[in-house]
Amino acid sequence: MKIAVVGTGYVGLVSGTCFAETGTIVTCVDVNEEKISQLNNGIIPIYEPGLEDMVKRNVEKQRLFFTTSLKEAMVGAEAIFIAVGTPPDEDGSADLKHVLAVASEIGRNLQGYTVVVNKSTVPVGTAQKVKNAIKQELEKRGVEVPFDIASNPEFLKEGNAIEDFLRPDRIVVGTESEEAQKLMSKLYKPFLLNGHPIVFMDLLSSELTKYAANAMLATKISFINDIANLCEIVGADVNLVRKGIGSDSRIGNKFIYAGAGYGGSCFPKDVKALIKTAQEHNHTLEILQSVESVNERQKKVVYQRVKDFFNGNLQGKKIALWGLSFKPNTDDMREAPSLVIIENLLKDGATVSAYDPVAMHEAKRILGDAIQYAATPYEATKNADALILITEWSEFRIINFEELEKNMNQKLIFDGRNIYDPEEMRERGYVYYSIGRKPIK
Ligand code: UDX
Repeated sequence: MKIAVVGTGYVGLVSGTCFAETGTIVTCVDVNEEKISQLNNGIIPIYEPGLEDMVKRNVEKQRLFFTTSLKEAMVGAEAIFIAVGTPPDEDGSADLKHVLAVASEIGRNLQGYTVVVNKSTVPVGTAQKVKNAIKQELEKRGVEVPFDIASNPEFLKEGNAIEDFLRPDRIVVGTESEEAQKLMSKLYKPFLLNGHPIVFMDLLSSELTKYAANAMLATKISFINDIANLCEIVGADVNLVRKGIGSDSRIGNKFIYAGAGYGGSCFPKDVKALIKTAQEHNHTLEILQSVESVNERQKKVVYQRVKDFFNGNLQGKKIALWGLSFKPNTDDMREAPSLVIIENLLKDGATVSAYDPVAMHEAKRILGDAIQYAATPYEATKNADALILITEWSEFRIINFEELEKNMNQKLIFDGRNIYDPEEMRERGYVYYSIGRKPIK
């Protein structure tokens, strides 16, 4: 079987490579020539554990190819996956220009029956637009080439993308024909050996499923963050509340970890886009509006606490920051809580010295010389007045206290992810603030 995947961003590259891993011949297409030439030389533009080896292996086995020519990639392809970006417009709705441009190009080059699969996260109704764009081009050409549209949202998590793709909880596919269903079943069969289902549905429902899934997960996070803030007010411990509610299988113990707010390329964008979709249909998604505002507030909680500690005066204070990426195991800083914290600390006249295991280059690209970049976590803490932990990378879990105390001006930690034990902090004489738990003073 041969397929084409258009867009070598996160979703496209991971999907294409994982399909190749099961023996499908995959050609990945991108308009960015530099990216394609890098990929052809085994250089991966994103940080994702395991991806580089898998790309190399499949390129060597001649199952995975990279090109800038969609026309070339389409030759003999039974399915074409569209996995290009849908950046948010100023008003929060997803910008479809890349998706529709690809659809038109497919229409200009379509030769025989093909299933065109949309994998980008797109608003409800986009599959129909893709179909129309292809049809329009076929009409211009004056030809009739049979094709089907499918919508196949992707649920992978950054940092765990390969595992998520190879062993998905479920595959969701929206289709309009049995032929397309058959093809998608064949393509995904190797990934469903763990017994998890492929769920077929209509196009609109599958498009909405992706947004509803992310919105539900974002809701869980904002919910627990809101409860965390209440815990602090009444003197309860959110970690205990989490364990207490999470063992009820109807609630579940995942995605109810309180923290410094959610970031990344999906949750913030998708929650906004879903609110927008509802508005366009004169409907208000009240819960999601709150999910969003709770998250905006949560991203500032750690900063606010630092500011309160220093009685509102951060002028000249040096703050060490551990973690920059929006979560561990990625260099992605899109919508990262660290950015909100840094922006506010700098605005108040503090200096920030940061360390992240992999996101340093990304931080330099975004922040330039606005902050200091340390070579190690402990270098960041030299002469620091406070340490903030914002991303729970494994390497931060065990602190070398001797080193820390040699460096810091005082024993003061703000933990935005609740990874340290308050009792240990008390024993070691630290002032320790976390999220939704009693501060140690
Ligand atoms: C998410 C979805 O999980 C995935 O299914 C979808 O395809 C894309 O969006 P991702 O953005 O890679 O994936 O990250 P995820 O691991 O879901 O974390 C998102 C954010 O939520 C992070 O900022 C994380 O720190 C935060 N989070 C997650 C919490 O604050 N608490 C939790 O309990 C879980």
